[in-house]
Amino acid sequence: ERSLLGLKDLSAAEINSILERAAFWDSQTDKVVPALKDKFVANMFFESSTRTRFSFEMAQKRLGAEVLNFSATASSIEKGESIYDTVRTIESMGVDAEVIRLTPSGVLEGLAERLSIPLINAGDGRNEHPTQALLDLYTMKQHFGDLRGLKVSIIGDIEHSRVARSNLWALQKFGADVKFCAPENMRAPELAEYAPYVSMEEAVCADVIMMLRVQLERHTEGLFKSKDDYRMQYGLTEERAGKLAPHTIIMHPAPMNRNVEIDDAVVEHAQSRIFKQMANGVPIRMAVMERAIQ
Ligand code: CP
Repeated sequence: ERSLLGLKDLSAAEINSILERAAFWDSQTDKVVPALKDKFVANMFFESSTRTRFSFEMAQKRLGAEVLNFSATASSIEKGESIYDTVRTIESMGVDAEVIRLTPSGVLEGLAERLSIPLINAGDGRNEHPTQALLDLYTMKQHFGDLRGLKVSIIGDIEHSRVARSNLWALQKFGADVKFCAPENMRAPELAEYAPYVSMEEAVCADVIMMLRVQLERHTEGLFKSKDDYRMQYGLTEERAGKLAPHTIIMHPAPMNRNVEIDDAVVEHAQSRIFKQMANGVPIRMAVMERAIQ
């Protein structure tokens, strides 16, 4: 039984074994297999989600698990119950693992220590989103084979991005060359020692262009002059996409602010892997669920 709280403390070998197991599940033609038959899992989303929540549920159901879904707005959280009391309550009912997404950063480890069942991080504040980075690495490996020396530009709202952090930690373990690109007010100073900030002109000369959503809901002050001004300076516009090297792939964890960080016409561009990333989330989460409770 193993929790997955982040990729920072996971070895390259452990990450590789998840990616390899995901490739196995990806190659299976049977839609449902009973690998997790008689296991009960709860998806505890204290923050909204479409992709992560549904692909975890797809993954769990494809493995034959019994799935319980929690919705914070229909729960006793509304009456002031704490996150700990909520996850501990569900554990006490006999579930075998809990998948959790929550807004605060830095509380997950403490929660995991107080539970006896595995906890899987589906995104904790700005800290980590390990299954997103795993599916991102899987998508890059599908296209490039090897991650060593791969030039990856992560562009946009680095400050608030758990996706950027999990990708940074994981990609560097495999020898990828990660660069950031962001306006001053979206940079994360504590990450500057791990990856350099470069201009947009330099950032688009990479093997992988990973665009990030501007997290409008997490900024408290005036973000930028206008959405169009941001788009012109840091967006993957149709014009910029048209000049990418032919081997470059475009990624975005989604949800997207279309015509802010990525143009409408670029989302399903021939070099975009955005919907492939979403598809890859299912075998990755199958491998993660299996690792947690089998
Ligand atoms: N990429 C991602 O985590 O999407 P959701 O917030 O919709 O789960």
